[in-house]
Amino acid sequence: MKKLLNKKTIIFVTILSIIIIAISFILLNEKKEKTKVVYKHVENEVKKLYPNSYFKNKFPLQYNTYMQTELEAKTKFNGSVKETKFSVNKEPYLPILFNGYGFALDYNEDRGHVYAIEDVTKTLRVNDKSIGACLTCKSTAVPNLIEAMGDRYYNSSFKEDILPKAESLKHESIGCSDCHDPETMDLKVTRPHFVQAMGNKGIDVTKAPPAEMKNYVCGQCHVEYYFRSVQKRVTLPLRIGYTAAAGFGYYYAFSFMNEGDFKNTVSGTPILKAQHPDFETYMTGKHRERGANCVDCHMAKHTSPEGKEFRSHTMTSPLRDLDGTCLTCHKESTKEQVTKAIYDIQERHMKKLHAAQEISVRTHYYINKMITVGADSGEIAAVQSQVHYAQWYWDFVAAENSTGFHDPEGALANLEKSILSSKKALEIATTALQAKNVDINELELKIKERMKAVVDEPDSTKKKDHATNDYFPPMVEQ
Ligand code: HEC
Ligand code: HEC
Ligand code: HEC
Ligand code: HEC
Repeated sequence: MKKLLNKKTIIFVTILSIIIIAISFILLNEKKEKTKVVYKHVENEVKKLYPNSYFKNKFPLQYNTYMQTELEAKTKFNGSVKETKFSVNKEPYLPILFNGYGFALDYNEDRGHVYAIEDVTKTLRVNDKSIGACLTCKSTAVPNLIEAMGDRYYNSSFKEDILPKAESLKHESIGCSDCHDPETMDLKVTRPHFVQAMGNKGIDVTKAPPAEMKNYVCGQCHVEYYFRSVQKRVTLPLRIGYTAAAGFGYYYAFSFMNEGDFKNTVSGTPILKAQHPDFETYMTGKHRERGANCVDCHMAKHTSPEGKEFRSHTMTSPLRDLDGTCLTCHKESTKEQVTKAIYDIQERHMKKLHAAQEISVRTHYYINKMITVGADSGEIAAVQSQVHYAQWYWDFVAAENSTGFHDPEGALANLEKSILSSKKALEIATTALQAKNVDINELELKIKERMKAVVDEPDSTKKKDHATNDYFPPMVEQ
């Protein structure tokens, strides 16, 4: 009996110990697992911002004119009004040309600096997948966030992480501290991507002469960029030069962008999207050789009632203040003459841009037909390569903001290149399609129908939906 009890006790104790060991093993392991998963990012403290109000009493002239960037006014082709680029007198076929990309959904003209944050948060191009990099040229919080977070700033969630952080710092839209050292008021480039890109060209922006700083502070934002590889760091393709050709060359030699920013839905062609190369087109334009800089044309010279000279901080179209801009150099000209000089350049420019975009639209549809009738894949690739090239050249011109004025000759030359390349594409495609017995006249009629349907759609966000149909099925899954 004693023996039996003993045996029972031993079995009981053994089972109990096994259970205890098993439970502690599970618990311990779980703890281990948790310390592995919970990874705390060490982040430096974000420095406080200098709000615009800090400068208000010290520099009322600049502060008050800065606040006036909220006034909306139109010029013939531009101005400071939020409006879609898709209207007939602007670029009505962009919803076809950018089909498959956010720029086919929502693409507006620029307006005053005070609106930058509102406009970036409201554009339909920004969604739950957008990243912090999108805020880079909008908010006074950005230099401090980059300093505190390092490269992690760029690919963090725009809506979940970066915007709330910037809001908690009470950020403002392109404020004094974006261009000035807040203590000395010297001009300062605050965005690391510009310092680095110019550094790659052997130009030390931190030691630039004051005259050049008047271009650099603007150039840091008004410039073509891309998000580099997985880190999504904002990067400028300036290394080879400032022309459209140099940008194109850069993307092949130095980036991971050979597949483009997106594939056009109509033709499956990989496309590189250009973004506002105002700095580049200024750099290659004649007025740079003539000694003009961004400030001369976009920050009008004013005199205060007390006789103090200063620069209007209402950075806007020179047409809104010709006395303080163009006429400070063209002293012999009248306002009417200068206005006409600008409009002559812009009208000639728009005509050529429309020609380049319309032929580009046709090439996308020709490729669509080549694919549906089973044309030779080598020929399809050859046409796509021409279209890829042609679209970069007109887009580089269309995406800059002066409607050709910054470099009128350069812009026309780029459009000419684009049209030539599109013509080449049509030539190869037509031969291939005729070999497959495609009726080219009918094809052209069907293309006109799509173009008209896009133009006729009153809702700008739905225009893109008319680019494809049963005759021209989408070539990229949406
Ligand atoms: C010689 C004069 C001149 C210089 C220098 C110049 N621009 Fe312009 N810019 C113009 C004109 C003219 C327009 C067209 C204005 C219009 O159509 O209302 C324009 C338009 C713009 C616009 C669009 C304005 C709007 O109303 O939407 C931006 C942005 C711009 N320029 C930025 C720059 C930047 C940045 C620089 C320097 C890198 C620069 N510009 C240098 C004359 C100049
Ligand atoms: C987008 C860039 C930018 C922003 C934002 C900006 N400035 Fe300026 N600021 C300039 C440039 C460029 C000059 C011209 C420097 C020159 O001519 O040497 C200038 C000149 C000045 C000057 C020198 C006097 C003058 O008028 O030429 C003061 C003072 C000044 N800014 C204050 C301010 C204040 C205050 C704010 C904010 C309310 C502000 N700036 C916002 C770019 C900027
Ligand atoms: C921190 C980035 C940043 C800097 C620096 C900057 N800009 Fe801008 N600029 C923008 C953005 C973003 C917009 C468009 C805002 C919108 O549409 O909501 C803009 C719009 C403009 C416009 C169009 C305004 C209008 O009335 O249509 C002009 C002109 C302009 N900037 C000129 C300049 C000049 C000149 C400088 C340098 C003195 C400069 N910008 C510096 C980001 C910047
Ligand atoms: C910093 C001085 C300066 C400013 C500011 C300036 N220009 Fe000029 N511009 C020149 C010089 C210098 C020339 C070459 C000499 C000439 O033809 O008078 C020139 C030439 C021109 C020409 C004739 C040559 C050509 O290439 O077509 C036009 C048109 C012109 N400018 C328009 C403008 C307009 C419009 C503005 C304002 C948006 C402007 N300029 C601002 C200095 C300036």
